[in-house]
Amino acid sequence: MEFKTPGRCKRWDEFNARWKAIAPELASDEVLYGADGALGKPYTLKNKLIGNRWAIHPMEGWDGTGDGLPSEDTLRRWQRFGLSGAKLIWGGEAVAVMAEGRANPHQLYVNPSVDTRAGLAQLREALIDSHESTGAATDDIYIGLQLTHSGRFCRPTGDGPAPRIAYRHPVLDARAGVQSDDAILSDMELEGITERYVQAATHAQAAGFEFVDVKCCHGYLLHELLGAKTRPGPYGGSFENRTRFFRETVAAIRSACPGLDIGVRVSIGDLHPFSPGEDRRGEPTGWNDSLPYTYGFGVDEQDPRRVDLTESFLLLELLRGMGISLVNLTLGSPYYNPHLQRPAAYPPSDGYQPPEDPLHQVAEHLRITRQCKSAYPDLALVGTGYSYLQEWLPNVAQHELAQGHVDFVGLGRMVLSYPELPLHVLRGQPLERKKICRTFSDCTTGPRNGLRSGCYPLDAHYKVRPDYTILKEIKERMN
Ligand SMILES: Cc1cc2nc3c(=O)[nH]c(=O)nc-3n(C[C@H](O)[C@H](O)[C@H](O)COP(=O)(O)O)c2cc1C
Repeated sequence: MEFKTPGRCKRWDEFNARWKAIAPELASDEVLYGADGALGKPYTLKNKLIGNRWAIHPMEGWDGTGDGLPSEDTLRRWQRFGLSGAKLIWGGEAVAVMAEGRANPHQLYVNPSVDTRAGLAQLREALIDSHESTGAATDDIYIGLQLTHSGRFCRPTGDGPAPRIAYRHPVLDARAGVQSDDAILSDMELEGITERYVQAATHAQAAGFEFVDVKCCHGYLLHELLGAKTRPGPYGGSFENRTRFFRETVAAIRSACPGLDIGVRVSIGDLHPFSPGEDRRGEPTGWNDSLPYTYGFGVDEQDPRRVDLTESFLLLELLRGMGISLVNLTLGSPYYNPHLQRPAAYPPSDGYQPPEDPLHQVAEHLRITRQCKSAYPDLALVGTGYSYLQEWLPNVAQHELAQGHVDFVGLGRMVLSYPELPLHVLRGQPLERKKICRTFSDCTTGPRNGLRSGCYPLDAHYKVRPDYTILKEIKERMN
């Protein structure tokens, strides 16, 4: 690694100088104000008071039962989300609306043969109980469930990929095992999938969730549909057609589940797929072989090495018009440009070495979120990509909130290793350095190799498992 990770900056001024060297408009706060500062300020969303500005991003564990219900590990993860003190729980994790839509055989899913509602309720209650055990109030926590269909990245059984796509892609087809147009979902099949979203939302509401996230990110089906420029028919081509499935699905959920709020997690910007180049660093190999690049959403057609927010803003406009004000902004995909989606010092086993200092990608998340917030100040925006900031995460988070650049700071990987970080910051306690996520990517490498996800290096629950030995062997073979 030629870059210095944030954790190696021992003093705030050292970090702040490095941060500003990435881009002069970046800044962080030297002094943290705990619950009295921007992170502790409540937010009123419609009529609901959300107690602070920490959000927990959805984090799957590849650890559901074969029937699609939570296991002990799943429950433990949700309990730890509750311990965090964060008041906005975004989805818990991606739950597939049907068996065929799972991204792995251990994903939670809506299985008509079991009591899905009870399984979901168990997760939500475990989270609330652990939240309460910290002495926190529970009437100001806002909990949603993320609903998904994995589309191109379906892998519902141990037999390998079973992709269902919106359109043929010049690079991703080969990677996802797409061999013919048979993988393309027909318009009628899409209409059937809307019904499954409605069923899933009905279960979520019955289980007590206050909102569902109709997930549009990370290369999964609804994200791919947003970029289905080459697809003929009612679900492709124009922006109106590409958002039709989303609009119809939201309308169907609203009609079946009055009172249930809708949120959207969206990859608001994207890039051409990356692969390892010279020195195993990631590069957008072949980006100029298929120009204009009409195969994505929020990516520049003439130069797909760049994000283009023109349609992203149209989407935010559309959401506002639909009365959806809770939006979680993310970028890219863990499958084809993980350095952007989850900036890390160390790549996952199916990834590549960082093309540049990962702080650039953290900055890209923040820059794009700032642009969206400035254009749509009335939306409640959740920011992503903070875990790589390590020790300095709270200083950047407080700054972005205090300056009105974002409404909630979402945490992903950091919560796997150090769930209490938000609580400690709110209480003005020093951080426990041993628990800080160092972005080793084992939480991604594990599942890519058929193991459960979790923080193997730092969480004792995973460290003692035989899986960790297997994981280490896999990583040694990679080097
Ligand atoms: C192990 C793991 C599981 C994840 N599961 C989901 C998921 O179910 N749904 C989702 O939208 N994002 C998921 N993500 C992405 C995170 O929510 C988050 O966007 C990403 O880790 C970047 O945030 P961070 O820098 O705080 O980690 C997952 C990430 C990891 C590492």
